[in-house]
Amino acid sequence: MLTLAIETTCDETAACVLRDGRIVSEAVYSQIALHRRYSGVVPELASRAHLEKINHVLRAALEGAGIGLPAGGKKFKKVFDAVAFSRGPGLPGAILVGRVAAQTAAKVFGAPLIGVNHLEGHLLACEFRKGRADARLKFPLAALIVSGGHTELWRAAGYGAYELLGRTRDDAAGEAFDKVARLLGLGYPGGPEVERLALKAGAKRPAFPRPFMDGGLDFSFSGLKTAVAYYLRDNPRPGAAARAAVCAAFQEAVADTLAAKAALACRKYGLRTAAAGGGVSANSLLRARMERACAEAGARAVFSEKKYCTDNAAMIALAAQRRLESGRGLRHSAEVDPDLEIESWKVGDADS
Ligand code: KG4
Ligand code: ZN
Repeated sequence: MLTLAIETTCDETAACVLRDGRIVSEAVYSQIALHRRYSGVVPELASRAHLEKINHVLRAALEGAGIGLPAGGKKFKKVFDAVAFSRGPGLPGAILVGRVAAQTAAKVFGAPLIGVNHLEGHLLACEFRKGRADARLKFPLAALIVSGGHTELWRAAGYGAYELLGRTRDDAAGEAFDKVARLLGLGYPGGPEVERLALKAGAKRPAFPRPFMDGGLDFSFSGLKTAVAYYLRDNPRPGAAARAAVCAAFQEAVADTLAAKAALACRKYGLRTAAAGGGVSANSLLRARMERACAEAGARAVFSEKKYCTDNAAMIALAAQRRLESGRGLRHSAEVDPDLEIESWKVGDADS
């Protein structure tokens, strides 16, 4: 099964050719340098940059797989079993660029178009090991999706069978990392910067609250961010050591909260696996805390290789492939939906 996938929901323009779960070629253009001076993603700039780069990225992925574009308006029949793209959630204009490119590619190659939920992609990215989707997820599991725009906890009974257990009521975990990095005058994206600086912290650290530890499965990170802002107001002009201490204390509060909720979901629903996906799941402290908390709950924590934690097109191609394997790939919407909720495409969906 050969799939072409496109990812443009935020600040990476990415394309991938996947054959039977093996990555044949990938191309990505990162917009990080473009957004860095604004300390965050500027939606209009993102859409324009996607538009400028998508053809180049698509062509690079195709060429990497040894697939040329048909000349003179001719169609290639049956090159791809599907062309997939992230249909949401994400930035409306950015997603639209990916959708138009995917739709065009689907027409050119005579392949069906599949709209994938970007967050489902983040979960399935856990299956990649050295370019192959060999590390199959063991369902049922708790899925912790932690990205720049989302923090959600799901119960997953199988591929395409998802139930939302909890979500953030305000800031996403990645957003909190980015905002705290900005308060400290660090670069963008903030997560890796905070993680790097935290490594230099000594034992003396400020005490920040562990947000929302009331036994529910929702999250809240804006209070923690405010606690950091107040601390910096009361302790102005921090030196390198003080900034490192703030990073370490903040990171610990986020990691402990996320780990505790993932473990709680495992306990509550008798799940033996907790899988984390999305940019924040690249964080080493989160991984360590989640492994420990889940082990105490009788569950194994699994993660994707760090490269596939952040946005990529391989995860979108894999999500489409898993859907096609189930025989339910083509009955699904391929419309852009910036606010797309996690959806169970397996349950109650007729076979095509
Ligand atoms: O999944 P992703 O690439 O894009 C979205 O779908 O949003 O996630 C990006 C987010 C950013 O907020 C970034 O600061 C955060 O993931 N991030 C991290 C780390 N690497 C990326 N947060 C904490 N620790 C990291 N190592
Ligand atoms: Zn993402």
